[in-house]
Amino acid sequence: MNVNLLEGKTAVVTGAGSGMGKEIAKVFGSQGANVVLADLNEEAARRTASEMELKKRVLVVQTNVAQDDSVQDMVRQTTEAFGDAHILINCAGVPQFFTPIEELQLEEWDNIMAVNSKSIFLTTRHLVPLMKQKESGVIINIASIAGERARPGLNAYCASKGAALMLTKALALELAPYGIRVNAINPGPAETPMLGRFLPGDAQKVEEDKKKIFLDSVPLGRLIQPHDIAQAALYLSSDLAKAVTGEVLNVDGGRGV
Ligand SMILES: NC(=O)c1ccc[n+]([C@@H]2O[C@H](COP(=O)([O-])OP(=O)(O)OC[C@H]3O[C@@H](n4cnc5c(N)ncnc54)[C@H](O)[C@@H]3O)[C@@H](O)[C@H]2O)c1
Repeated sequence: MNVNLLEGKTAVVTGAGSGMGKEIAKVFGSQGANVVLADLNEEAARRTASEMELKKRVLVVQTNVAQDDSVQDMVRQTTEAFGDAHILINCAGVPQFFTPIEELQLEEWDNIMAVNSKSIFLTTRHLVPLMKQKESGVIINIASIAGERARPGLNAYCASKGAALMLTKALALELAPYGIRVNAINPGPAETPMLGRFLPGDAQKVEEDKKKIFLDSVPLGRLIQPHDIAQAALYLSSDLAKAVTGEVLNVDGGRGV
């Protein structure tokens, strides 16, 4: 295992209170980065901080990635604490229950689009000026294989992740002249608290459906682990991937094939 691949870097990780964001924060901390843990759930982000192997410093900022003033405040606190930010991981997200399109409420559509895709616009617009000054930076958007391969009833979720993927490509081209790389990771069905929240029904039905709907759709026959995503994010964030931009890396056990 490589060590200290992120020495001297500061990474902002949204959604760092749970699942993949939590694991990304832990791995990045162990690789020598300062890490900003930005999550709506401040208590959960503090729990992540308490579990991290710390080589550098950690900052917890309660952040709503769907609100511009909240994101702006998180970036202000980041620059006050570290003077800089080199890496942005957009991982915060919300799921959607399987819902027929005619039953989907306007508020739910708006919330899913705001947290899963508008948030990328908001974090990027406030952090890119810092990256442009140094002519280097890395942005990774945790999208979903559902942004390429739809599932019935996940209409808003699939659309929000499709938008995240195309925004990744547009930003990769726009920011390449400034030495800023922008890539996306598409997780497949993953063993995190989110997975069960796609499914209606009681606990037993959710467990049965997780297997029937999600596990059985993965050719490698296992759910994705948060560590699988953290390893991919580490590669894309490090100089090992210095020639990689505009790329979408499926970490999905073959679900997207
Ligand atoms: N779990 C899966 O099967 C799966 C599959 C593909 C893609 N993804 C995507 O991966 C990412 C991480 O998902 P996860 O499974 O780790 O989920 P999770 O539910 O375990 O964690 C999501 C985190 O985002 C935070 N969050 C939610 N809304 C927020 C907001 N408005 N502002 C700031 N933070 C907010 C939550 O508090 C939570 O800590 C998400 O973008 C998700 O859509 C998940």
